[in-house]
Amino acid sequence: MKLLMLPGDGIGPEISDASRKVLDAAQAQFGFPLEYEEDEIGFSSLERYGTTIRDDLIATAMAVDGVILGPVSHNEYPPIEEGGLNPSGVFRKQLDLYANIRPAKSRSGIATPTGRPMDLVIVRENTEGFYADRTMVTGTGEFMPTEDLAMAIRKVTKKGSRRIVEQAFALAARRRQKVTTVHKANVLRVSDGLFLEQARAVASSHPSIEYEEELVDAMAAHLIRSPDRFDVIVTTNMFGDILSDEASELSGGLGLAASLNAGTDYAVAQAQHGSAPDIAGKGIANPVSLILSVAMLLDWLGARRADERLNHAARIIEQAVDATLEDPSARTPDLGGNGSTDKFAAETARRVTDLRP
Ligand code: IPM
Ligand code: MG
Repeated sequence: MKLLMLPGDGIGPEISDASRKVLDAAQAQFGFPLEYEEDEIGFSSLERYGTTIRDDLIATAMAVDGVILGPVSHNEYPPIEEGGLNPSGVFRKQLDLYANIRPAKSRSGIATPTGRPMDLVIVRENTEGFYADRTMVTGTGEFMPTEDLAMAIRKVTKKGSRRIVEQAFALAARRRQKVTTVHKANVLRVSDGLFLEQARAVASSHPSIEYEEELVDAMAAHLIRSPDRFDVIVTTNMFGDILSDEASELSGGLGLAASLNAGTDYAVAQAQHGSAPDIAGKGIANPVSLILSVAMLLDWLGARRADERLNHAARIIEQAVDATLEDPSARTPDLGGNGSTDKFAAETARRVTDLRP
């Protein structure tokens, strides 16, 4: 099994290194085959190749079993014509990674802003919506007809809606049997109307799963008031982008939030947060988000390859992270601890080794 490692910008190299230490410990314990291929993405790729993501890297990503994508400073890149492509968008579109699975789970020992525990997953559509790089065959979904008028197109398809809702129901069936569809069909009657219609159709074929709908603005409030009310939340791309940051912050911090971009054939593990250039190189970045994203990738690969060792390793990595988080001397400063990236990784790797039954 081969994984492509793309450390990315800012704190990317540090947290990628930390994730690799944990993954190596899991590999040693569970004995699954594992090889890495490392390559460049983001600013280092821009300097060397004139683009933040090369075309042939997509071909490499398709040839390996999974990708670990470090955070990128996309907002600081030059315009597309000067090589500043958004690597997240390129992967999501080119590999058809339509499901962005984003858990937000409170962890023992980590305070939550609401004081309430939560354990939910946002299933975010990843290939259409309000993302201008994902709407058109040529050109972009954002344009300026005149100097003083900017417009943006939002794309919602029947197929795209249906497949993301199906993912949400499949996930809920393995969890607490509840799906909440988030939309804004009171205003976007046609586009979110189509999304909702597909959601209802999928819901009707899963009568044993509880189903509800919420408007996105109300949802932003419900998440704060009663985050423990939700199990699986399914929504369109931009709403999912925003709500997933809110949910992860409510679960204890953006640094804890894992995410997997998955399609039918490919999967990319990617932390939910950005590249945090202000703390890059200081050795204090919280690696939890990427470590847990890598665990999600192992879980996905385990199901795909029918290799139980990978699913088991994923569970043990999560338990090891939880146990390490309970130790304030291992936690990174964003979580009120005085640990370092390396220490957190080493402690988690040690626990992966110790925890294995
Ligand atoms: C995310 C990020 C990306 C997005 C950015 C980096 C383009 O915020 O993965 O949530 O908006 O999708
Ligand atoms: Mg985001």
